[in-house]
Amino acid sequence: MTDALRHHGDLDALPGLVDLAVNVRAGTPPQWLAEQLSGVDLARYPNQDAAVKAVAERHRRSPDEVLLTAGAAGAFVLIARALRPRLSVVIHPQFTEPEIALRAAGHDVHRLVLPPPFTLDPNLVPVDADLVVLGNPTNPTSVLHDRPTIRALTGPRRLVVVDEAFADCVRDEPESLADDPDVVVVRSLTKTWGLAGLRAGYLLAAPDVVERLRRAQPPWPVSSPALAACVACSTPAALAEAAAWADRLDHDRAELRAALAAVPGVAVVPGARAAFLLVRTTATDVWQPLRERGFAVRRGDTFPGLDGHWFRVAVREPATSAAFVHALEEALR
Ligand SMILES: Cc1ncc(COP(=O)(O)O)c(C=O)c1O
Repeated sequence: MTDALRHHGDLDALPGLVDLAVNVRAGTPPQWLAEQLSGVDLARYPNQDAAVKAVAERHRRSPDEVLLTAGAAGAFVLIARALRPRLSVVIHPQFTEPEIALRAAGHDVHRLVLPPPFTLDPNLVPVDADLVVLGNPTNPTSVLHDRPTIRALTGPRRLVVVDEAFADCVRDEPESLADDPDVVVVRSLTKTWGLAGLRAGYLLAAPDVVERLRRAQPPWPVSSPALAACVACSTPAALAEAAAWADRLDHDRAELRAALAAVPGVAVVPGARAAFLLVRTTATDVWQPLRERGFAVRRGDTFPGLDGHWFRVAVREPATSAAFVHALEEALR
């Protein structure tokens, strides 16, 4: 396994730089959430009941279809350790931890590398694949696949795992499969709520799959503050806050996209729906001169399927995006 797979945006975001490399929502966690988490009783062992109920209700699933995990990354490790796939397929470019987890657990991984513009043709997945992992919307491409396309990947002898860590970037989540018992949906509280350090996430799946994975978990796999976050971030008020942010994001992303498209030598992957854009430049390794100008972007070359011509940039408020585009113009000169 190469070190490149282990590269993540936090390594690009050096102190002092404007961080456009990490995709956590700016200004998070919100104060109301931080206050709730600080009130958690740490002396007791964690009890999952309220958190499982809250997540189940939020997604209109039954509690036995919910498994709480230490972040989405914890779910990928669990899936890799507990299941025995004969042929795992990871659809790239995407977040690399699922592939790392599968390889670390001793599984062979077949990479299906989509070419630009990174739309998915289900027929490209080998018929004998019994585990397929994809992201939706996908990191780093920001492409949102539609439900029928993902549903077309499912089959009686195959488990499809959809990483929906960025699903709440899209208001009402029309393409989410969180209500579909035929797939495993992995969700994260990290991005929308600014809780990377808490390790809070969960998966939604059929009860037999949940039970198999649960048996592979260590005791008390999710901390009490992370359980409190699952409750707090599943309320109607929290969902309304996330929806309002998704609307702002649409607007800010469109502005950034238009500004980037006007820069010679720059192309943006179309159809972006997440909190970031994937950008191709005619020059290579633009992340370096951008860093000299005070901006951290996520270099693209460590993602399978991309090279030094690509970088990913987080969508921020218009003033930051404008300053970034100016720096990019200079960097490309
Ligand atoms: C697509 C995607 N899925 C999952 C994760 C990890 O989420 P968590 O912090 O919940 O483990 C990340 C983090 O960068 C990500 O980009």
